[in-house]
Amino acid sequence: MFSILRATILTALVPAAVLCAPQKRATSAPKEPFQLYAYGKDIGGFPLFYNKGLAFAGNPDKSAANDSNAAVVSFVTGDNNAWVGSPVNKTTDWNNVTLFVPTNATQDTRVGFLPSSNGGNSSIETTGFSFYGNTGMVIKPDGTVEMLFTGLVIDAEIVQVYWNDTSSGQVPITLRSMAPSSPPPSVPATPLEPANPNA
Ligand SMILES: *[C@@H]1O[C@H](CO)[C@@H](O)[C@H](O)[C@H]1NC(C)=O
Ligand SMILES: *[C@@H]1O[C@H](CO)[C@@H](O)[C@H](O)[C@H]1NC(C)=O
Ligand SMILES: *[C@@H]1O[C@H](CO)[C@@H](O)[C@H](O)[C@H]1NC(C)=O
Ligand SMILES: *[C@@H]1O[C@H](CO)[C@@H](O)[C@H](O)[C@H]1NC(C)=O
Ligand SMILES: *[C@@H]1O[C@H](CO)[C@@H](O)[C@H](O)[C@H]1NC(C)=O
Ligand SMILES: *[C@@H]1O[C@H](CO)[C@@H](O)[C@H](O)[C@H]1NC(C)=O
Repeated sequence: MFSILRATILTALVPAAVLCAPQKRATSAPKEPFQLYAYGKDIGGFPLFYNKGLAFAGNPDKSAANDSNAAVVSFVTGDNNAWVGSPVNKTTDWNNVTLFVPTNATQDTRVGFLPSSNGGNSSIETTGFSFYGNTGMVIKPDGTVEMLFTGLVIDAEIVQVYWNDTSSGQVPITLRSMAPSSPPPSVPATPLEPANPNA
């Protein structure tokens, strides 16, 4: 509930000009390609990374499955303001993947990536990504602005990214294009309740 309240407050702060121009990117959109960094309570700017089609923030080398294909993602803006990602400094079995957030048509609240061959479905939203300043957001076709990213602390260097869900102990996060000025500290050592991926 807190995240929803907070997102509502953030939404209320977005100027009408942005709301009236849903297809235009905010003027201060970052230079491309850009990376995204997660910020929230005790989460000080972990880079967004890809692991098995899902979005995490932190250190890909510490991914749960120790997956050599996990890598930090660098983005460019594609058609309809999709954010298309490629691995940074790594050769992986994925490339040109499209960031998605779930829609309210699904119970699966995890944020992830689609392969370029996949056009998506009604359970996910892949278009309308934009920036307010350096903060990532989604602008719906009707102009509604949503900033509903949440993060579940998996361990000291891994946070899993969710959308509009605090039910497993996720905390509200923002995804920003700005890197932290110093390497982000580990999150507190006692992890929150682990996620039930099917919750
Ligand atoms: C992950 O893989 C690396 C290299 O293959 C290995 O050195 C490391 O111990 C592994 N870590 C875990 C947690 O399995
Ligand atoms: C990629 O490599 C550059 C140059 O070695 C380095 O400065 C940068 O930190 C690396 N980025 C990541 C995400 O590892
Ligand atoms: C990714 O997409 C870009 C633009 O469509 C293309 O130039 C590039 O070759 C693609 N890269 C891979 C590895 O598919
Ligand atoms: C966020 O979740 C709440 C409660 O599950 C739901 O009522 C609301 O429609 C969701 N909002 C969006 C934008 O998906
Ligand atoms: C999802 O959101 C749309 C508009 O935001 C709304 O019309 C629809 O009723 C919602 N569906 C559910 C299942 O909550
Ligand atoms: C929609 O796409 C998501 C992400 O790939 C997938 O998890 C989900 O099963 C798909 N839903 C349907 C109804 O195909």
